[in-house]
Amino acid sequence: MGKTHAAVTGVFGWVPEDKLTNFDLEKLVDTNDEWIRSRTGIEERRILRTPGWATSDMCAEAVKGLLEKTGTKPGEIDLLIVATVTGDMVFPDTANTVCDKVGAKNAFGFDLGAACSGFLFALSTGAQFVQAGTYKKVVVVGADMMSSIIDYTDRNTCVIFGDGAGAVLLEPCKDGNGVVDFVLRGDGAGRELLHMKAGGSLHPASNETVARREHYAWQDGKRVFVQAVKGMTGACDELMRRNHLTKEDVAWVVPHQANMRIITSVAEHLGFPMEKITVNIQKYGNTTAGTLPLCLWEYENQFKKGDNIILTAFGGGFTWGALLLKWAY
Ligand code: COA
Repeated sequence: MGKTHAAVTGVFGWVPEDKLTNFDLEKLVDTNDEWIRSRTGIEERRILRTPGWATSDMCAEAVKGLLEKTGTKPGEIDLLIVATVTGDMVFPDTANTVCDKVGAKNAFGFDLGAACSGFLFALSTGAQFVQAGTYKKVVVVGADMMSSIIDYTDRNTCVIFGDGAGAVLLEPCKDGNGVVDFVLRGDGAGRELLHMKAGGSLHPASNETVARREHYAWQDGKRVFVQAVKGMTGACDELMRRNHLTKEDVAWVVPHQANMRIITSVAEHLGFPMEKITVNIQKYGNTTAGTLPLCLWEYENQFKKGDNIILTAFGGGFTWGALLLKWAY
C-alpha cells in the first residue's frame, strides 16, 4: 500500500457575468487600454453586482458546481476552508456561511487569510487533514470580491483587481498522485507595502478612517512587483530542487495572476516556455485567492493524470510559496 496523498478530484470555478473593461476604467480614472494591457496584460475583469450577494455567494456557486460535477452530496463534506480577504463579515467566517448555503450539514469550516497566497496556504492545510487520515472529503475554496475593497479613483489598484471564486475537492489517494510537497513562506515586514489599513483592531472603522480612504486596498506596486518575482521564483526553485525535478519533469506551472509581466518574468527566471504556464489574467485580472483555482478550472481539460503541476503565489503579508501537485485524473 502506497502512502496516502490528498488528491484534487475535481475543480469548479465561478465568476460574475458583469465585466469591467479597460475602456470602462478609462471613464473612471486617468488611464488607457494600451497602458493597462502593456503594463499588466489585463483586458477586463468581472465585478459582482448582484444585489445582496457577497463572497459567500460566489463560493457557494463554485462549491455547488463542484459537488454536482464530482457526484458528492453536501452532507459528505467533512471540512470546508475558504481562503479570502474579503469575507462577508469580520465574523463569523465566510466558510460557515458557505456550509449553510450549500447544505454541508456535517462539515466544519474556517477562513484563511494570506491574501493572494490564500489558496496555496489553504490547499496545503486541507491536504494535511486528508493525508493524516482525519478527513475523507475536504473542500478548499479561493474567493475574493475585490471590488468591495477597491478604490475606483486609484489607478494604481483599480486596473488590476477583479472578483471570482474557485473550489477543489480533496480526497485520499494511494497511487502517488495528489499534493506531494510545498514550500510556504512569510515576511511580516511586507505589511507596509500591501494592505488595507482600517477596519481591523489597529484602526477600527471611524469617520476619520473613511475620510482617509483607509478601507481600500493599497500597494506600493513597484516594490511588490520585485518581491513577487523573487518570492515565486525562489519557492519554485527550492520545491523543484528538493523533489529532484528538472524543468522537463514539470508539465505545468500555475502562477498567481497578478500581472502578466510578473508571470513572464517568473517563467523566464525558471526557464519554462510560456506553453507550460497557465494564464487567464486577461479575462479576470487579479482575483486574489481566486486566481489559482480559476486557472486549474480553465486548464483542467489540458491536464493529464500524473502531470507534475507547480502552483505558486505571492501576496500581502508578505506571503508566498509553491506547491507540487500530481494531477490525479
Ligand atoms: N494608467 C496609466 N498610468 C499609470 C497607471 C495607470 N493605471 N498606474 C500608474 N501609472 C503611471 C504612474 O503614475 C507612473 O507615471 P510617472 O512615471 O509619470 O510617475 C508610470 O505609470 C509608471 O508607474 P509604475 O508604478 O512604475 O508602473 P509599473 O510598471 O510598476 O506598473 C503596477 C504598476 C501596479 C501595474 C505594477 O507595479 C504591478 O503590477 N505591481 C505588482 C502589483 C501586485 O501584484 N499586487 C498584488 C499583490 S500579489
